Amino acid sequence: MEPALSLAAEVDSYDRLYRNGLYWLFWHSRKPEPELLEAHRTGAIHGKRALEIGCGGATHSLWLASHGYAVTAADFAPSALKLAQRKARARKLTLDFRLLDVTQPSDLGAPFDLIFDRECLQDLETREAREAYARNVTGWLAPGGMLLVVSHVATAGAPPPRRPHLPEAEIPSLFEHLTLESVSDLHVGAVLLWMKTVVPAERHRLERFPYKQLVSFKSVRRAYRFRKP
Ligand SMILES: C[S@@+](CC[C@H](N)C(=O)[O-])C[C@H]1O[C@@H](n2cnc3c(N)ncnc32)[C@H](O)[C@@H]1O
Repeated sequence: MEPALSLAAEVDSYDRLYRNGLYWLFWHSRKPEPELLEAHRTGAIHGKRALEIGCGGATHSLWLASHGYAVTAADFAPSALKLAQRKARARKLTLDFRLLDVTQPSDLGAPFDLIFDRECLQDLETREAREAYARNVTGWLAPGGMLLVVSHVATAGAPPPRRPHLPEAEIPSLFEHLTLESVSDLHVGAVLLWMKTVVPAERHRLERFPYKQLVSFKSVRRAYRFRKP
């Protein structure tokens, strides 16, 4: 396992990926995750105050805002927020954008009925950082609020790539003050196949995600739905 990057290096690395458009190669999706759509459709989200952490290009925040949610969209990469703000302006949507590190305590104003995270928690490289995340998120949720986390997880016996960092076995103790309502398996196969064919041409530019790592990126991708009692 490679050593953890410093926070400044993490921010810089993400910031460059957003600035030069490479974010699109790795994780960006123009379509919201089906688990979020399902939670909305079935009325499982008990209110309209939503927070997205690690919002990136803000596909999910913008979708939520366009469906009547009051959205706070947070990320620690300034260029991600600029990108998201440009999209919001183009769609005439108003969101509360926050530049923050999710492992630090922050006053976000209101408790939230929904906190959504697509692939931010998996970036936190130490148990200490993940505990700080869990503490903050639990505090930001309203009673009855939902935390929906989409993440690559390292299952028992999996080889240890640099990412993902979220060990599946850690999840219950990490979110001990929340109730786990459901876990769903998500598909990654098509994305991986596409990456394997497209990425070699870009290899020299990919400091953050070396090709070798992408090829060994055989993780399980899951959606975890928690509820604050
Ligand atoms: C894999 S990207 C996913 C982005 C977005 N959720 C999406 O699905 O397109 C992870 C995002 O989390 C952000 N991030 C990582 N660690 C963070 C932290 N400690 N605090 C805030 N944002 C963080 C990164 O800047 C990046 O935008």
